[in-house]
Amino acid sequence: MIKKAIILAGGLGTRLSPITKSINKHLLPINDKPLIFYPLSILMLTNIKDFLIIVNSGTTNQFRKLLGDGSRFGTRIKYAEQKKPIGVPDAFNIGEKFIGKDSVALILGDNFFYGQSLSSQLLKASKLKTGAKIFLQPVGKPENFGIAKVKNQKVIAIQEKPKKSKSNLAITGLYFFDNTVIKKTKKLKKSKRNELEIVDLLNLYKRENKLNAEFLGRGAAWLDAGTLVDFLETSNFVNLIEKRQDLKIACLEEIAFNKAWIDKNNIKNSINFYGKCQYSDYLKKLL
Ligand code: DAU
Repeated sequence: MIKKAIILAGGLGTRLSPITKSINKHLLPINDKPLIFYPLSILMLTNIKDFLIIVNSGTTNQFRKLLGDGSRFGTRIKYAEQKKPIGVPDAFNIGEKFIGKDSVALILGDNFFYGQSLSSQLLKASKLKTGAKIFLQPVGKPENFGIAKVKNQKVIAIQEKPKKSKSNLAITGLYFFDNTVIKKTKKLKKSKRNELEIVDLLNLYKRENKLNAEFLGRGAAWLDAGTLVDFLETSNFVNLIEKRQDLKIACLEEIAFNKAWIDKNNIKNSINFYGKCQYSDYLKKLL
């Protein structure tokens, strides 16, 4: 059972410059809340309460100001800084002490997931005892993602951003790993683009026949916010659904309250913390 997670929220955000010159990308808004709320909410829905958020040098305070130690929404959050964005698997070097002897989930901080039955699918998948688990969804532009080739429900090949690909199944930015991820990461060498590659790590699991893939159904939305257009489109998507249903996506306190991780007093504290705003108005409805 996976009980801990790392959220990778570093990187330089160069594609969003000049906005990201002074603000970490994961604190930019998707509709009415910072991007980081969305991956965090998905893991909370997976019943994970222990988090390590990895940020780029000098930005821990920005995150701490927003999320604190996580207790506002019934979780425990620690922070670590990555000196240089040398690749996704570096999360397991930085997070070695945090992971200890446990299994761990990793989510890329710019990934957005939404959909009916998604949390029940993830809850089931988080029962993982050994090996690694990835979540696949078809995409129109495979050249922008890690891609898996699948035959009879088994992953037969994976590749990072292939120029030409016969498969259109993208590997989304959510991964579940057993504890051998720490040892495996230490074996990785930098690729041609001078990064530690997540696909190389997954290939080590595949070689041991321990890489499992699940499909996110076509009713599930998966987006990654790497460019300004992605931010705009994801914001519009959230805005449309929130307006129509009068329910919020990724309201951290609501998730925690429904799981009885926090009580009404905590909600009141959060309302004080956020001040007069739409998000607080929504929280008031929970009281
Ligand atoms: O979104 C899914 C894709 O994410 C996967 O299909 C790819 O296999 C995977 O490599 C990754 O590709 P991206 O090109 O989107 O990765 P990017 O470099 O944009 O980084 C993803 C997030 O992780 C982003 O929020 C920044 C953060 N990051 C990345 C690296 C390389 C770090 O915090 N530190 C890093 O060293």
